[in-house]
Amino acid sequence: MSDNQASLIAGGKTIDMPVNSGTIGPDVIDIRKLYAQTGMFTYDPGFTSTASCDSAITYIDGDEGVLLHRGYPIGQLAEHSSFMEVSYLLLNSELPSEQELADFSRTITRHTMLHEQLATFYRGFRRDAHPMAIMCGVVGALSAFYHDSTDIADPVHRKISSHRLIAKMPTIAAMAYKYSVGQPFVYPDNKLSYTGNFLKMTFGVPAEEYEVVPAVEKAMDRIFTLHADHEQNASTSTVRLAGSSGANPFACIAAGIACLWGPAHGGANEAALNMLKEIGTPDKIQHYIDRAKDKNDPFRLMGFGHRVYKNYDPRATVMQTTVREVFAALNVQDPLFETALRLEEIALSDPYFAEKKLFPNVDFYSGIILSAIGFPTTMFTVLFALARTVGWVAQWNEMISDPGQKIGRPRQLYTGPTSRDYVPIESR
Ligand code: SDX
Repeated sequence: MSDNQASLIAGGKTIDMPVNSGTIGPDVIDIRKLYAQTGMFTYDPGFTSTASCDSAITYIDGDEGVLLHRGYPIGQLAEHSSFMEVSYLLLNSELPSEQELADFSRTITRHTMLHEQLATFYRGFRRDAHPMAIMCGVVGALSAFYHDSTDIADPVHRKISSHRLIAKMPTIAAMAYKYSVGQPFVYPDNKLSYTGNFLKMTFGVPAEEYEVVPAVEKAMDRIFTLHADHEQNASTSTVRLAGSSGANPFACIAAGIACLWGPAHGGANEAALNMLKEIGTPDKIQHYIDRAKDKNDPFRLMGFGHRVYKNYDPRATVMQTTVREVFAALNVQDPLFETALRLEEIALSDPYFAEKKLFPNVDFYSGIILSAIGFPTTMFTVLFALARTVGWVAQWNEMISDPGQKIGRPRQLYTGPTSRDYVPIESR
């Protein structure tokens, strides 16, 4: 930690606060004693300048477009690793040996089955229920089935519930899809990889043998890796805040899923493809660019812009390459990809987007790939939640394991009425 200080003059007093340094990235001013010393709070709605914790899991340099998981660049992990290996890395800080990876994958595989009673939860939903609504409900209900792993003070319980969540999300997601299309649920197949099993549970049918297409399995697995974790984003912060009260991990992840659903966050992948469909052909692009720039128009380019990245999202770079691989593997084309490429080209040459440093993010191209593989747009954020679960549980474990952890309880700038006496209704 550095020994330098920051001084603040407030209320006629000078307050010295410690400045702490991480291994890389911005230093932080430790303001924890500010209220006691000045009677004032800091004010940072949206947390644009606030570090909520220290963490060793993921580092983002938004200006340089850098994303590291336990120090490994996302581009290298996407090219050389697998979602199971990245999951091990996020949970255990180091890349696994061959044996460690085999043991971890086997453990996850053996937790993929859901309690049979949970299947009845699906029948309570309308067939046209949004799969994210189903996922919020079913994941929250898991704590009603796994009381043997909800003692968060017990590291063994934390490990089991983490493995259960990572393992069961594909099954829950596939069942949400099957329910929406009126097909029977397909049970997990332990002979397949994590991602191959998910594809079979989603697209396989009892009447036929399902063959996993290796190129699709590889692309899907890479998409999971690209979504695995992303520092203290809104849904991860939601999981941490829920976890800080001592809530069980299943409830915390359900809270994260709910937050991810928003179109400003994980819901943007569904919104981005719907936007591309609405734009249709490249000749319509300029009209939508003009709308995105119009202060009086709430329309925004979905899949563009980011709170942290003020450069190209490194995940979007990999995503764009993956589009071409999946098109080639499936021998398909999608004119929306050309529209997306042209939209990116026009936007990035427009001063509005350049000045505001708005670039494509992880959600801009992902929908095109998922659509080519066969997922409906309503499943896109479900797939984001499936992959982000490992990041959420890794961050949750890091927080719960910190002996200095306190319940998260922000304050406010109060702007309401001062104290006043009750007025009887006959006198109002
Ligand atoms: C994810 O945080 C994470 O890490 C999230 C994530 C993860 O992996 O967890 O990376 C996943 O959520 C990616 C982001 C997906 N969302 C979208 O693609 C939705 C569209 N993008 C925006 O709504 C927006 O860019 C946000 C929400 C992503 C970021 O918003 P900020 O940081 O709060 O920025 P802002 O809204 O203050 O915008 C700054 C300026 C504004 O103009 P001014 O008021 O300064 O004049 O840029 C403009 C905005 O109007 N702007 C856009 C824009 N995004 C920002 N203008 C047009 N189109 C856009 N997409």
